[in-house]
Amino acid sequence: MIVRLRNPLTAEQLAPYQLSVVGPPWPYDFREIFGNDHPVEMEIGHGKGWFVVASGEKRPDVNLVGVEVARKRHLFTVNRVAKRKLANVRLICARAQDVLKDWVKPESLRAIHLYFPDPWWKRRHEKRAVVTSDFVDSCLRALVPDGFVHAASDVPSRFESIRELFLSSPRFVERGAEPQRALPQVVSNFEAHALEAGRGIQRTSFQRIA
Ligand SMILES: C[S@@+](CC[C@H](N)C(=O)[O-])C[C@H]1O[C@@H](n2cnc3c(N)ncnc32)[C@H](O)[C@@H]1O
Repeated sequence: MIVRLRNPLTAEQLAPYQLSVVGPPWPYDFREIFGNDHPVEMEIGHGKGWFVVASGEKRPDVNLVGVEVARKRHLFTVNRVAKRKLANVRLICARAQDVLKDWVKPESLRAIHLYFPDPWWKRRHEKRAVVTSDFVDSCLRALVPDGFVHAASDVPSRFESIRELFLSSPRFVERGAEPQRALPQVVSNFEAHALEAGRGIQRTSFQRIA
């Protein structure tokens, strides 16, 4: 993924849109951070930020938090957010596993968006995959009851392993593609590449029950 930053803003201009990765202040108090009690949704691995930026623009009544481990992509996206002055978007440069496990309060997220996570083709790299059974437990902890994990991938084997992991928890039920289709339509960077290349996209949503 090539990331070219044109006319970067200053650190002071970016700061209001970045959440500290030096704790405390964890767990984050989203009510205080956003200054309202709108529902909070988190995108895991936002890459160049197409989804989180467009969703922030289309849904001003939702607070969006993007998490990205790659610093260049974080900075690229925070520049886009700051240039648009999106008051309902914040970005964190960190491992999503850490953020979900310890840095957010229990039952503080209405939805978690997981689009086109890295496939890690080589067997020896599989352990780097974001979705593991610990990650599923962290999602369960972070989501409000009835909250959703929305997932999509163009790699069938990765999609299946994500499904298996979420469905191995009795507290998630699969709701299929409908809950994602009900959201304002936004195409992520990797989704656009997959569509251009004619690759099929699989998507589904898991809902936390109780
Ligand atoms: C294949 S890209 C998809 C980007 C975006 N979701 C999209 O659909 O265009 C996966 C992204 O997840 C990020 N990533 C990988 N592991 C991560 C982790 N543990 N925590 C946060 N982000 C991660 C990568 O740096 C990369 O930007």
